[in-house]
Amino acid sequence: MIREIVQVGDPVLREKCKPVTRFDDELFRLLDDMKDTLKDAEGAGLAAPQVGVPVRAVQVDVEEGFFEFINPVIVSQKGEQSGPEGCLSVRGKAGVVVRPEKVKIVFQDRQGDKYSLVARGFFARAVCHELDHLDGVLYTDKATDVHDVDD
Ligand code: CO
Repeated sequence: MIREIVQVGDPVLREKCKPVTRFDDELFRLLDDMKDTLKDAEGAGLAAPQVGVPVRAVQVDVEEGFFEFINPVIVSQKGEQSGPEGCLSVRGKAGVVVRPEKVKIVFQDRQGDKYSLVARGFFARAVCHELDHLDGVLYTDKATDVHDVDD
């Protein structure tokens, strides 16, 4: 089910999100709805607070595939890249953000099983952008040259 994407100005986007502790039907429903919402919006990623639920769950949909990261943490990072970003919660804008070139994260899947993963390039950028949402950070806080674009 497609959920409404919360827009900038809503305080839920500024919350420090809570860890997921129950890997149950409610989480599955949230994640399934987030996936429907992300596909519908044709975005590269979506964090749970963007559908109004302040818990530590994100999805990334990039060339490498579709990923769900529950309770993700960046454990190491390397290098630097500068590139354009937008956000489904900041419609009609884009800006340039400096991010690590490569990040290693640890996370859980929807069953609660633990994994680690290395992301590079745009994948790393998307991971960093989504993880920032879990701490109430928007890319516009870090971007230079935020400007209007056609959605
Ligand atoms: Co975003």
